[in-house]
Amino acid sequence: MEPNPTPPPDNCTHLFRSSWSLYDAILAGNYMSHREIHACVREVLMAQANHGRFALLDLGCGNARLLADTLRTLAPRRYLGVDLSPSALAEAAHYLHGLPHVELREQDLLACAQDEAAASTEVVYSGFAVHHLNTADKQRLFHAVARLLRPEGSFLLVDVVRDEGQTREAYLERYLHLMRSTWTGIEPTRLEEACQHVAAFDYPEMLSALTQMSVSAGLGEPHVLGQFGAHTVMHFRQSPAIA
Ligand SMILES: C[S@@+](CC[C@H](N)C(=O)[O-])C[C@H]1O[C@@H](n2cnc3c(N)ncnc32)[C@H](O)[C@@H]1O
Repeated sequence: MEPNPTPPPDNCTHLFRSSWSLYDAILAGNYMSHREIHACVREVLMAQANHGRFALLDLGCGNARLLADTLRTLAPRRYLGVDLSPSALAEAAHYLHGLPHVELREQDLLACAQDEAAASTEVVYSGFAVHHLNTADKQRLFHAVARLLRPEGSFLLVDVVRDEGQTREAYLERYLHLMRSTWTGIEPTRLEEACQHVAAFDYPEMLSALTQMSVSAGLGEPHVLGQFGAHTVMHFRQSPAIA
């Protein structure tokens, strides 16, 4: 197994602590396919809403900007957004202003998933945050999510994923090349800052590894709802209640 220490959260969230202008520029250029990804996420949330009002736990919520409009339409019975970046949470409070049943919490995402009450949540969502965890913590996260999801609940995981057999080094070489050659709307010093963040803190898994973690936690195999380069939307389902 490759050495993959979970970086202290102080470090891997540094890029998101002082300012969200960089991430907003990435969104504006759609460099990480947020537009297409959010269309997939919205579809799952709308299907969930058709079964009744749902609770949503958002792990590594950032500024919640992309989800905000969808949440206003679907009115979840509870939205809990968790992040270690106070500036992200301050922006999330702004984007979610006026929406009832919203809680924003400054906490480590794994700790939060482990703390939440068993079978309390219909949907767990995480966008581009889980790749910061080491392999053992990712496995712990799957177990924690399996514990807190209600029967037939959904775990929507949006993240970067390595190709099968691709080393982290080969992944980084390709991804950093893509960033430097196509993220042309980002100011060069900020782009370099983003590249350094990726090189230091991104530990994406292969889909087969995430599948193994999910199966061993009892969530079964994922449905891949969308794949846009390395940016992948995975849907894991909790089993139905046993009658
Ligand atoms: C790339 S941003 C993604 C934000 C949002 N989920 C999205 O998809 O647009 C990653 C977020 O995860 C947060 N994060 C990273 N590691 C975390 C951890 N261990 N616990 C809580 N938040 C974490 C960062 O602070 C940052 O806000």
